[in-house]
Amino acid sequence: MDTRYSLGESLLFIHNRKNILEAMEPHAVAILYANEMVCAHGDDTYPFVQESDFFYLTGITQDRCALILYKGKDDADCQEHLFIDPPQPDQEVWVGKRLSAEDAQRISGISSIQYNPSFYIELQNILCKSSFIYLKNEYDKLFRFSDLVSSLIKNHPFHHCKSLLPLMARARSIKSEIEIKQIKAACRITAEGFKEVLPYIKPGVMEFELEACLAKSFISRRSRGFAYSPIIASGKRACTLHYTHNAHACRAGELVLFDVGAEYAHYRADVTRVFPVSGRFTPRQRAVYDAVLRIMQHAEKELVCGRTLSEYHRRVGVHTENELLSLNLLTKTDIAHQAPDQPAYRRFCMHGISHHLGLDTHDVHPKDGPLQPGMVLTIEPGIYIPEEGIGIRLENDYVLRADGLENLTEEIPIRAEQIESIMQSFA
Ligand code: GLY
Ligand code: MN
Ligand code: MN
Repeated sequence: MDTRYSLGESLLFIHNRKNILEAMEPHAVAILYANEMVCAHGDDTYPFVQESDFFYLTGITQDRCALILYKGKDDADCQEHLFIDPPQPDQEVWVGKRLSAEDAQRISGISSIQYNPSFYIELQNILCKSSFIYLKNEYDKLFRFSDLVSSLIKNHPFHHCKSLLPLMARARSIKSEIEIKQIKAACRITAEGFKEVLPYIKPGVMEFELEACLAKSFISRRSRGFAYSPIIASGKRACTLHYTHNAHACRAGELVLFDVGAEYAHYRADVTRVFPVSGRFTPRQRAVYDAVLRIMQHAEKELVCGRTLSEYHRRVGVHTENELLSLNLLTKTDIAHQAPDQPAYRRFCMHGISHHLGLDTHDVHPKDGPLQPGMVLTIEPGIYIPEEGIGIRLENDYVLRADGLENLTEEIPIRAEQIESIMQSFA
């Protein structure tokens, strides 16, 4: 049980299942599995992370579980069955208490809790009444699941298999206020982490020492830790977009880029800031920094409900192009010769400007539908110039509201003067 959810908040999972059941075709069954424990070495496992759709629909944070959702003729004719491991008292001395049926019922709000050996019998019964089977595509890639899928298809040739992904993507992309509250908590914890790490940024400090400071700060605030592998990249390493070694010393005159976020209650923050190691930007660093900040401010105006993400990216791309012209990184000739699917600005800014954020750092979303109130997205422009040892990305998290953006990461300093003045105060 994740004690970061109050009893009232776990109504979220009941509401989420209702949404998915409403979106399913009549006479359909959806089958979902929890993630498995993965062996790291010997008898040790990687830390367990629940499969995000499974968590979204159940609130269950344990492995070896399955969920069957069944919709009959209409929304009033539905069934929910959650399957868990039977009690194994001899294992408790090693792993502690696993979920009891009562625990699983209280967390998920599902009344039919059964032990795993009943799964196939229940599934067969439900399949007899169904015409459609919703499965998650990714499962086909895994041996265990492809076994199940192929036997389902072989034994039920008249059932149509459908992907559950579009239904989950649509539902998960619009966050409820409970989910927004958890993302806000993740952002607040991330902000505290930045406050604590800033005084340690000095010439000679190792990137991993800065990582350790953030880990302590996050975990001591009831985060499980980093929302994704933290990127703490000084100097030219900031031009490697997914640099995660965090193994170098920060040198005087360099910049250090932090792309870090805290997890909270399974939701994630995703924030990027760049600081001058010696406390002051050089004129060139400052010019590039301010250009990235202006792209972000422009993107904030473009990220509006009703627009598609691809149209938004196209518009922010035009602004990025103008900033690169001003920095003398691109020429008008470069732009005149660019291929429509290969914009010239991509040479200095290779990644997208925004993505959805939630249970996954790169959260699921409907394929290029219009942006809608309740969606949570990042804005993260960057300019990378390896020849100059400069890589600058700035990233904030926002909720789209009908009347504009709510910036969840506003309290983390971002203006260059603000950053210089904070860093001077530690000198
Ligand atoms: N940290 C991954 C990203 O910003 O998208
Ligand atoms: Mn990021
Ligand atoms: Mn991001």
